[in-house]
Amino acid sequence: MSKLWGGRFASGPADAMAALSLSTHFDWQLATYDIAGSRAHARALHRAGLLTDDELTRMIAALDVLEADVVSGVFTPVVADEDVHTALERGLMDRAGAELGGKLRAGRSRNDQIATLFRMWLRDAARRVADGTLDVIDALVDQAQRHPGAVMPGRTHLQHAQPVLLAHHLLAHVQSLLRDIDRLRDWDARTAVSPYGSGALAGSSLGLDPAAVATELGFDESVENSIDGTASRDFAAEIAFCLAMLGVNLSRIAEEVIIWTTAEFGYAVLDDAWATGSSIMPQKKNPDVAELTRGKSGRLIGNLTGLLATLKAQPLAYNRDLQEDKEPVFDSVAQLELLLPAIAGMVGTLTFDTARMAALAPAGFTLATDIAEWLVKQGVPFRVAHEAAGECVRLAEARGVGLDELTDAEFAKVSEHLTPEVRAVLTVEGSIASRDGRGGTAPARVAEQLGRVGERVTAA
Ligand code: ARG
Repeated sequence: MSKLWGGRFASGPADAMAALSLSTHFDWQLATYDIAGSRAHARALHRAGLLTDDELTRMIAALDVLEADVVSGVFTPVVADEDVHTALERGLMDRAGAELGGKLRAGRSRNDQIATLFRMWLRDAARRVADGTLDVIDALVDQAQRHPGAVMPGRTHLQHAQPVLLAHHLLAHVQSLLRDIDRLRDWDARTAVSPYGSGALAGSSLGLDPAAVATELGFDESVENSIDGTASRDFAAEIAFCLAMLGVNLSRIAEEVIIWTTAEFGYAVLDDAWATGSSIMPQKKNPDVAELTRGKSGRLIGNLTGLLATLKAQPLAYNRDLQEDKEPVFDSVAQLELLLPAIAGMVGTLTFDTARMAALAPAGFTLATDIAEWLVKQGVPFRVAHEAAGECVRLAEARGVGLDELTDAEFAKVSEHLTPEVRAVLTVEGSIASRDGRGGTAPARVAEQLGRVGERVTAA
C-alpha cells in the first residue's frame, strides 16, 4: 500500500517504525466520521471549482459505497494502513479510481481531519453518556418517589449527624449527576467548532469554504485560527475531566451502596441480577457493580491526568504526540458506557429496609441539634443552647437512653428553658419536618425538589 507521503522517500518504513506508528486499532472508530468529512470536503472542492459536477457525483457515490462497506465490515484496515485516513483513502481509490480518489486530498490534511473527526465522535459520545446518566438519575428518582416518607440517619464524617429523608439523600446524588450533564452540554457548546479548512496548520489556499463544511458536519462555525484548530486539544482534556468527574460522582453512590449492603448497616439489599456470589463462600452476595464503579473511577482520573501530561509543553502546531489523545478519552467513554446501565440497574432494584433505617435514625443522639435549635427559638443564645444540648447528650449517654427518654426533671436541671414542650422536636419526624427552609429535608421541600428535578430531567 502506498503511504500518503511516499514521494520524497526512497524506502518504506522499518517494521518497528510502522508498528509504532499504527493507530487503526483505535482510530477506526472514526471511520464513518471521516467519510462524512470527506463528503463535506468534496462539496467544498466542487464549490471552489476543483471538482466538476460529474466528479462530485461520482465521488459522493464512491464514498457512499465505501461507507456501506465500512459499516458492513466488508472494508477494514490492513496493517500497512498507518491510520484511519490512510485506510479510507485506499478504500476510496479502489471504489472511485485512483485519479478521482486522489483529488480529494487537496486542501486538507490529516491534521485538520483528525481534529475535526475527534470532535465529532466526542460530541456524539457526550450525548450517549448524558443519556446513560439520565438513566441513573431516573433510577434514583424512582427510588425517591417510592419512599417518600422513609427516614435515615444523615451522616457527616460517616458518624450519625441529623436524621434526613432517604429521598433527600438520593436526590443529593441526582443534583450532582444533573450538573455532570450540564457540564457535558456546556462543553458541547464550546466544542461545536470545526477545524476543517485549517489544513496542516496554516489554512488552505484553494478558496474552500470552512463554514459550509462546518455546517454540513453539524458544527456551529469553523475555527478562527488554523494553528489553534490543528494543535489544540483542550476540548479532549475538558471532556476527560467531565467524564472523570462523573465517574467520581458515581463512585460516591457506589461507595454508599457498598456500605449500605453490609450486615452492619443493613440499609439495603442488592437484587440478585446486580450482585455476584463467591466461589467458596456460599452465603456471599457481593456488590461488584459498585466496586467496579469505584475502581473504574480511578481509571477515568488516570485518563484525564495522562492526557494532560501528553499535552503539557507541546509546541504549536500539530505534533505526533497528539495521536495519544484519543485512547484515554475513548476508554473513559467505553468504561462509562459499561458502567452507567449497570449502575442504573443496581440502584433501581435496591430493596431498602426502611424499618431498620428508621430505627437507626435517632441513634447516636441525632436529635441534639434539634434541642439546641428549639432553645434558640426560646431566645437562648446558640452558644448556651449548644452547651445545654450537649449536657443532655452526656446525661442520656450515661444512662444508656435516648434523648427523648430524659425526664422532665433532667431537662429542667440542664436548663430552665428546657420545658417539656421540647419533646415536640425529639422525634425523627418532628426533626425532619422542622428543616423546612429552602434546600432542607422537610417532606414538603423534598416534594418540591422532586418536582424541579423532574422538570430538569425532561429538559435534559
Ligand atoms: N493519526 C494521526 C493522529 O491521530 C492523524 C494525524 C497525523 N498527521 C500527521 N501529520 N502524521 O493524530
